[in-house]
Amino acid sequence: MGFDTATNKMVQSEDSSFTAFSVNFNEHYHSTKDGALHESLQKHVIPALTLLSDKEELTILDICYGLGFNTLATLYYLKKNNIKKKIRIFSPEMDGELVASLNTFPYPEEFMFLKPIIEAVSRDNRYEDDTCLIEVYIGDARAYLRECKEQFDIVYQDAFSPQANPLLWTREYFADIARFIKDDGVVTTYSIALKTRLALYENGFDIYLNEGEGFRKATLASKAELKGFEKVDMEHKIKCNPDVTPLRDEEI
Ligand SMILES: C[S@@+](CC[C@H](N)C(=O)[O-])C[C@H]1O[C@@H](n2cnc3c(N)ncnc32)[C@H](O)[C@@H]1O
Repeated sequence: MGFDTATNKMVQSEDSSFTAFSVNFNEHYHSTKDGALHESLQKHVIPALTLLSDKEELTILDICYGLGFNTLATLYYLKKNNIKKKIRIFSPEMDGELVASLNTFPYPEEFMFLKPIIEAVSRDNRYEDDTCLIEVYIGDARAYLRECKEQFDIVYQDAFSPQANPLLWTREYFADIARFIKDDGVVTTYSIALKTRLALYENGFDIYLNEGEGFRKATLASKAELKGFEKVDMEHKIKCNPDVTPLRDEEI
């Protein structure tokens, strides 16, 4: 297959859409049960864009670009629902070879209209038109955050699992996220681990449950109140699980 590289292999999900398996991290890029587009929409794009539907302009941090589903699903969702917004997406990704190969990835039919964007990002790590800017930073996400000058409305926290990629889930990592997110910004993540939620909570985020038909439970976090989502009682969780602590940089 054209897409396969030494470190990333294409995989078909149960819904027949494609994702990939990382040899280096020994993990799939998406749930092979849910399917990549479905997972991206339900766990990240729909809750974030619904919560911030009043904003005319959104600045998004997509951690990390990978196959680009969260970025592309954002543009797909806006087009499908005829929502006009200015969108700026910044996305660190350490695997430059992966990004360069994405013009050969078998994306779902829904992304066909995004072909010029997929090709530009794969060629230049960047795309821009009147309403949309996408910049993929080839390098380490932690280094990107050290130099970051943006304030984000949305952070798609979609790194490999805390077990496989702990440095993108620590208390110190989320301290950086807390510095670069707006007061009404929203973090979306598939992780419901208490360690992850504590790392967010100890940096001033409240924690909410993202659940619905056809996808496994996920987490939303914000410094502002998120209407329509169940708030997790973190003080109660801490009392019931006194030995659980967030991941720390120094332990890794
Ligand atoms: C689960 S995948 C991202 C899935 C992505 N949202 C998508 O839609 O395909 C995790 C990605 O993080 C990248 N990555 C891992 N550690 C990184 C780091 N420290 N900095 C930047 N990218 C990293 C991997 O190369 C991989 O592409």
